[in-house]
Amino acid sequence: MIDDPAFSRLGFGVSGPHAGWAMPRHATEDLVHRAVGLGVTLFDTAPSYGKGEAERRLGRALRTVPRDKVFVATKAGIGPGGRRDFSAGAVEMSLRASLDRLSMDHVDLLLLHGPAPAEMSDKLIRHLEAFRERGMVRYLGVCGRGGELDAAIDTGAFQAIMAPVNSGLSDIETARLERARAAGLRVLGIEVMAGTTRRRLPRSRGDLWYWARQTRRSLLGTAPVVPVNTPQLGLKWALENGPADALVCLTTRHANLAENARLAALEARASAS
Ligand SMILES: NC(=O)c1ccc[n+]([C@@H]2O[C@H](COP(=O)([O-])OP(=O)(O)OC[C@H]3O[C@@H](n4cnc5c(N)ncnc54)[C@H](OP(=O)(O)O)[C@@H]3O)[C@@H](O)[C@H]2O)c1
Repeated sequence: MIDDPAFSRLGFGVSGPHAGWAMPRHATEDLVHRAVGLGVTLFDTAPSYGKGEAERRLGRALRTVPRDKVFVATKAGIGPGGRRDFSAGAVEMSLRASLDRLSMDHVDLLLLHGPAPAEMSDKLIRHLEAFRERGMVRYLGVCGRGGELDAAIDTGAFQAIMAPVNSGLSDIETARLERARAAGLRVLGIEVMAGTTRRRLPRSRGDLWYWARQTRRSLLGTAPVVPVNTPQLGLKWALENGPADALVCLTTRHANLAENARLAALEARASAS
């Protein structure tokens, strides 16, 4: 069971706009430092975000932060060039390259990035366990949306799963996440605000990035449909009702980061009293 004070209720995703042209490097680093200052100490990234750029930015930003004060998650299985490979050898090379980009000797959580159930082979799981024994990772997990998460729970080899957590979850999806938690896995929620952000004229390069993603999702018919209609209500819903231990959110704005941290702290105080 993951038990670490740095595994904060609100996490910060270093992805998308933080992985390329949409945000300058120093702006990502400033937000990471602000997050740590606000008690948001769980960070999520991946090799495929900006061909490794997101990991490099996160590693650079965290150089000045004591390693045990933050909980860093990254992924493996989709490489910087977008190529899928869940073979044991490729996952090991991916982890080594991530550690190099992050300038770290270990990551706290290594998530397989959307494997098919058949790709979680016994050989791969033995390799993942060897990474833990060697101290390269502390915990193992799977990031996904459907049956691959059921398979991951059933193996008993993982301590966490990452999946969408928002008010548009179906009963099957909710039951899956509850089953994971009952089995002692931590659930990291993503897409907490999916479907809640308003369409408006882009005001920053970050907004342009979101606009492009939203347009792509609309064209593909994969845009999530959720009952709540603002990002704040999306986060509030997930904090109060979502079957998750941590919520990993993405933002390019200091004001939104502070607002999200305030909502998460309010909820922590309410559940403690
Ligand atoms: N989506 C995926 O497929 C996926 C897959 C694997 C992992 N992840 C992880 O999940 C993280 C979260 O990404 P996500 O795609 O799920 O996005 P999300 O956190 O659900 O939503 C991000 C959007 O919400 C806006 N926002 C955040 N706080 C706000 C506030 N207080 N008020 C108004 N707007 C607010 C952001 O805009 P501003 O920048 O303007 O604040 C941005 O447009 C990623 O960084 C990544 O680490 C995502």
